[in-house]
Amino acid sequence: MDEPHPLPSPEQDAALAPIIKLDLKRQVLVCTAKSCAANGSEAVLEAFRAQLAAEQLLFFKGNTSGEIHCSHCGSVGFCAIGPAVLIYPDGIWYAHVTVADVPEIIESHLKGGVAVERLVRKRLG
Ligand code: FES
Repeated sequence: MDEPHPLPSPEQDAALAPIIKLDLKRQVLVCTAKSCAANGSEAVLEAFRAQLAAEQLLFFKGNTSGEIHCSHCGSVGFCAIGPAVLIYPDGIWYAHVTVADVPEIIESHLKGGVAVERLVRKRLG
């Protein structure tokens, strides 16, 4: 059996992926798989990105000081109750999220650290 391929060092990886060293506070994942997309998750994702960008909170290549990473993700099993929105490191999974809910999630949860309980359907940990 061959020797396992040696991993690059953390420093070598950080040179290739600078996001490693940035001070991200939270990650928002919005499911854009088939069922959630059919219930408007693409618009939910764009609403998160637009408001977070307007408030200089969104991390992206043009704003590496943004503290929140926001991305789409695949199905997590909330297909019948989506759009699903997952927030880490809190491990909070929201269901039935609409564009109208996005400002409340940003203000209460992402900025204030308080989950929007009426939409919480799962907690990890
Ligand atoms: S399609 Fe979004 S959780 Fe399954």
